Amino acid sequence: MDDNRAAEVVTYREADTANLDAAALDGIWTLTQAAFPPGDFSRDDLAHALGGRHFLADAYADGRIVGHASVVARVLEVDGRPLRTGYVEAVAVEPGWQGQGIASALMLAVNAHIREHYQLGALGTGHPAFYERLGWRVWAGPTWVRTAAGPVRSEDEDGGILWLPTPTPTTPTPTAPAQPPITGTESISCEWREGDAW
Ligand SMILES: CC(C)(COP(=O)(O)OP(=O)(O)OC[C@H]1O[C@@H](n2cnc3c(N)ncnc32)[C@H](O)[C@@H]1OP(=O)(O)O)[C@@H](O)C(=O)NCCC(=O)NCCS
Repeated sequence: MDDNRAAEVVTYREADTANLDAAALDGIWTLTQAAFPPGDFSRDDLAHALGGRHFLADAYADGRIVGHASVVARVLEVDGRPLRTGYVEAVAVEPGWQGQGIASALMLAVNAHIREHYQLGALGTGHPAFYERLGWRVWAGPTWVRTAAGPVRSEDEDGGILWLPTPTPTTPTPTAPAQPPITGTESISCEWREGDAW
């Protein structure tokens, strides 16, 4: 690490999409294009990351966004049971800043947010080991997408969907008694959306 670099630190913050200005949204886009392989992160992927809570790491030196993750609300159905789900999108750290714990710090804040506000956490990834060390588990059951024409299997996603248990997976009411615990072996579905459904 050179002298200049050693003096740099990051600051962490959270913000809802509605409170991000155009420069911040540009910064998130620029970051994803630097972090992901060329063509891997699309405009659809950016759209999927908007509308919820952002977790950001800013370089103290120039305010540049060097780390990001967001959580958006989706309804996932587990064996047909709808669950208010915090879905994690656009996890990225600028290449020069990787390997210093930034994504792990962002994900710990993401985990806390999901546990406080949602019944389930979920995300799609090709890198499960990074998330498993932070408490996430691979969903072992079959994945589906709910389309206008009915449910469609998404075999390609099987094994690539991770979930985070929360303290409140069910909301028993007098008319809906307590549900069985989630095991991660059930079938799971998301609603269709433009771009990658999962
Ligand atoms: C994945 C990514 C967000 C990690 O960011 P980071 O700030 O470097 O992560 P951290 O420093 O917090 O954690 C790195 C640790 O996780 C491990 N790790 C990092 N990427 C990993 C991966 N893809 N699979 C398994 N482990 C991984 C490292 O070995 C390291 O472990 P250590 O702390 O024991 O040394 C970053 O590499 C990135 O932006 N990659 C490109 C975009 C991407 O793939 N995003 C995730 C899509 S789901």
